[in-house]
Amino acid sequence: MSASILAAVPMAPRDPILGVTETYVADQNPRKVNLGVGVYYDDNGKVPLLECVRSAERARVEAAPPHSYLPIDGLQTYDRAVMQLVFGGELAASGRIVTVQALGGTGGLKIGADFLRLFDPKAQVWISEPSWENHRALFEAAGFKVNTYPYYDAKTHGLDFEGMRGALDKLAAGSIVVLHACCHNPTGVDLSEAQWRTVLDIVRRRQLIPFLDLAYQGFAEGIDSDGYAVRLFAGAYAPVFVSSSFSKSFSLYGERVGAFSALTESADEAARVLSQVKRIVRTNYSNPPTHGGQIVATVLAAPELRALWEKELAGMRERIKAMRKALVDKIKARAPKADFGFVLAQRGMFSYSGLTKEQVARLRTEYSIYAIDTGRICVAALNSKNIDYVADAIAKVI
Ligand code: LMR
Repeated sequence: MSASILAAVPMAPRDPILGVTETYVADQNPRKVNLGVGVYYDDNGKVPLLECVRSAERARVEAAPPHSYLPIDGLQTYDRAVMQLVFGGELAASGRIVTVQALGGTGGLKIGADFLRLFDPKAQVWISEPSWENHRALFEAAGFKVNTYPYYDAKTHGLDFEGMRGALDKLAAGSIVVLHACCHNPTGVDLSEAQWRTVLDIVRRRQLIPFLDLAYQGFAEGIDSDGYAVRLFAGAYAPVFVSSSFSKSFSLYGERVGAFSALTESADEAARVLSQVKRIVRTNYSNPPTHGGQIVATVLAAPELRALWEKELAGMRERIKAMRKALVDKIKARAPKADFGFVLAQRGMFSYSGLTKEQVARLRTEYSIYAIDTGRICVAALNSKNIDYVADAIAKVI
């Protein structure tokens, strides 16, 4: 009998983010804390079920709809709602945007990557240094060569804007540039509005292809202000590709509710792009699941639910900011020479803490506190019950 093709399959490494969760789940220490994955937990350490979601879900269960298929591109009311939220009403009405429901933000990126690879196979992709771990893997899996542009300056804990600008300004026309629209993952360091305008100028002058990843809208300052970069680009340039997600902003992680959007130059172009995007979806997973898309569409369409969502989103945002402040103060009280003040300026769920790989390993093995090897911690997993324990541990390992 010939050896099975499976006999030679090597073991793949654990996922750098979700693999941390696997190890955390297996840990028996009752004090364990998962600062790894980007998930918002409330002050009781629970993933919240938003009231606006609960209300839309109740109505859906009462209506007892049959479980048929959605169209390939998803629920039409959802796609329109995403278009309006992400691009604003005027552009959404232009007929130039293609939006399809996707399996979370990752799914939106993958649809876009497959589309670009199909129609622009020679292009190369540029991601920030550092970037979300899955960006490189995802674009490489789609067949692209993935390069990096400078982004984070470890000395200042801030943005290396000169480095970023200089690198982008050398790219060949047609290069695909992945940009974090807000709440940069993993660093929490964002561009100012003036810096975004400079990047747009470069993109326009060098005819680059911007692909904006908008996974945390509402977690920095608010829905509108966090959407600034997407609307700036979309209002002045085409094509613009966007992957967006409601995993975090609606706390609907496991429902996989995201979208892929492409801003085109005309309604005719949009129709052709949509036809091709639908083929990509159809040959991957046929069509998306209904529940999460329906919930989001219901909330966004009903003024009182939408207002409730914005209030609940603001509540998550403010709690994260309070945790940033508490962490900085508590580390300072325990280790007066260490200055973690930069954590206050970082935005969104994450902090690039500056902890080394060795320090992260000590947090894990000695305290059952889980962070990403790069030093990224999820501030949204801190709460009034675990923050002293975490601050004690950090003060001990630094
Ligand atoms: C993260 O960066 O932790 C989140 O975006 C979750 C994920 O899929 O990696």
